[in-house]
Amino acid sequence: MVNCFVWVNETGGVVRNIVLTGFMGTGKTAVGKVLSQKLGFVLVDADAEIEKEQKTTITDIFNRLGEAAFRDMESAMIKRLSVLKRAVLSTGGGAVLRAENMDALRGNWIVVCLAATPETILRRIGKSKNRPLLQVADPLQKIRELYDFRRPYYEKADIIINTDGMGPLQVAEEIIKAVSSKQ
Ligand code: S3P
Repeated sequence: MVNCFVWVNETGGVVRNIVLTGFMGTGKTAVGKVLSQKLGFVLVDADAEIEKEQKTTITDIFNRLGEAAFRDMESAMIKRLSVLKRAVLSTGGGAVLRAENMDALRGNWIVVCLAATPETILRRIGKSKNRPLLQVADPLQKIRELYDFRRPYYEKADIIINTDGMGPLQVAEEIIKAVSSKQ
């Protein structure tokens, strides 16, 4: 847990980047857009970068090559993106599972985890076919199982924001408040 953040500073202080973690459907991409605009930071989405690099979708990577191959691509991508400056990085929901991913972000990145209940997550994801891990008969049950397993990893974040009942703008404002109050 980091207790002291060096934050946006007009007089030349070091500015740390923000990485958004959290389960699928917690709003990382939508919040990342608003947050990056508010801060004047560049926005990077690790999954979108993998899709660009591989010239295909995450679903296709899972289907053709399997989850382990995707996780290797994800780790390589996070390492590559970890050198960015003045950036908001949105990660896939499973990125927290590998210690090497979070180690790559240690130091220059404030880790902000977005949380939500399984019911909220299911509502936000709807019937989207873009989450290969949730293409099962009972997605709510699957969300609960995965979330229970991942909870300790998400809880390692510097800041956790509960997003239930909140839109991206409100969440982005909460993040800025939380980060500023830890200066
Ligand atoms: C995953 C989350 C997805 C994507 C992949 C695996 C996960 O990203 O990386 O389908 O393991 O939780 P989002 O969290 O952006 O949906």
